[in-house]
Amino acid sequence: MSTTIENRGQFGSKLGFILSAAGSAVGLGNIWKFPGKAYNNGGGSFLVIYILMVAIIGTTVMLAEFVLGRKTQKNAIGALRELNEKYSWVGGLGVLTGFIILCYYCQVGGWTIKYIIAYLTESATVYADPTAYFLNMLGVNGFPLQGAIIFPLIFLALTSFIISRGVADGIEKLSKFLMPLLFILLIGLMIRACTLPGAGEGVAYMLHFDPSKINGNSFLVALGQAFFSLSLGMGVMITYASYLSKEDNLISNTGVVCVLDTCVALFAGFMIIPAVCATGIDPGMGGGFAFATLAGVFMSIPGGTIFGLLFYSLLFFAAITSSISILEGTVAFLVEEKGMERKKTVVYVSMVLFVIGVFYTLSQAYMNIKGIWWSLDGVQFPILGDFMEYLTDRLLLPFGAFFTTVFVGWIWGTDNAIKEATSDGKYKFSLAPAWAFLVKFAAPIAILCIIIAGLFLGMSIA
Ligand code: PHE
Repeated sequence: MSTTIENRGQFGSKLGFILSAAGSAVGLGNIWKFPGKAYNNGGGSFLVIYILMVAIIGTTVMLAEFVLGRKTQKNAIGALRELNEKYSWVGGLGVLTGFIILCYYCQVGGWTIKYIIAYLTESATVYADPTAYFLNMLGVNGFPLQGAIIFPLIFLALTSFIISRGVADGIEKLSKFLMPLLFILLIGLMIRACTLPGAGEGVAYMLHFDPSKINGNSFLVALGQAFFSLSLGMGVMITYASYLSKEDNLISNTGVVCVLDTCVALFAGFMIIPAVCATGIDPGMGGGFAFATLAGVFMSIPGGTIFGLLFYSLLFFAAITSSISILEGTVAFLVEEKGMERKKTVVYVSMVLFVIGVFYTLSQAYMNIKGIWWSLDGVQFPILGDFMEYLTDRLLLPFGAFFTTVFVGWIWGTDNAIKEATSDGKYKFSLAPAWAFLVKFAAPIAILCIIIAGLFLGMSIA
């Protein structure tokens, strides 16, 4: 194991780690998923719940993962195995979760490449009817060769290529350059979207706290989204923290990564929702927010094509720094625990997840139109994409997070964990008693509630 760790290297700087962990966290979840969920769950009311979930449960689980990683200096499965042999399967569960997420992540990542090229070569066609362009990519007018096969394959090939060469250096360098750029651009676009004529209604909706809009489901959606967005519950943060030294302050790192990730989600929300109101595009489109809706925005601002090109490039980079972190989890597991050869593993895993992923895009429009599979005999089966999100966000990630907190709180013990979190007392952690309480009681109970509700309430992921 130690050779592998040496091969992977260490983060070169404190900032490098923060930006790489933020690079994993900031991804499609923030820009593509979050605004739609905020819109559907009451705007401002949802933001309040989401921020509370991140502040209370998200930070708790993230620190627990950081502590496990830095203590053992191992990947997710190795880390749990070292501390208690019986729990290494929890890491295995994370690997499975990552695999399922990647199936659809690579598809949407592919769409971002398609849009980059569209903005370079045929922006007029996009602008002619942004919604139709998006739906066409999904297959309303025939098999979506580009949206389901060609571009996702390119995205996956790029992800695999980087992974097969090892990542620590590449990710760190890339993240250091791209994350600040992403921030600047998002803020610029948010200001532009909020000042569009007619955007005021959207801004007001996102700022209005209406307690009557809050229900049990808002909490469930917010917590599931928080885990996904912060890359928690599947061991990615355990693996990343395994590259840290005792000099690093895990407590402040947790705060910074959570704040950065949440800011990006909020900026994306304040960019997309006001734009929806200003352009009047049907907000019920879910996954289309970041594509169809924003294309409408770019169309209506001076220099919009350049902004569009930059936006989809950054969406692509945000997606790839996340997809790398997920694929690395699966590959590292098969290489380190099952003794498989790295390059071959990357190819095999990529092929399987690509084939499953194709059905994700097909299921969005093409298969619904063709009526294959889930509309058999009039019985409506859930759309595959919704089902994958439900499985990962509502069940598997919370399950992983639940066992991480139980493991740290009860099996390994909060005293050990706090000792590691403070680098043996070097750093101050005045909230340590509160954190211990959250890891042992509040977080596992809250997470268990979302798992049970997810099982019994069914598939509401909106
Ligand atoms: N956090 C990433 C996003 O918001 C997705 C992700 C989930 C990455 C789980 C790693 C692990 O897009």
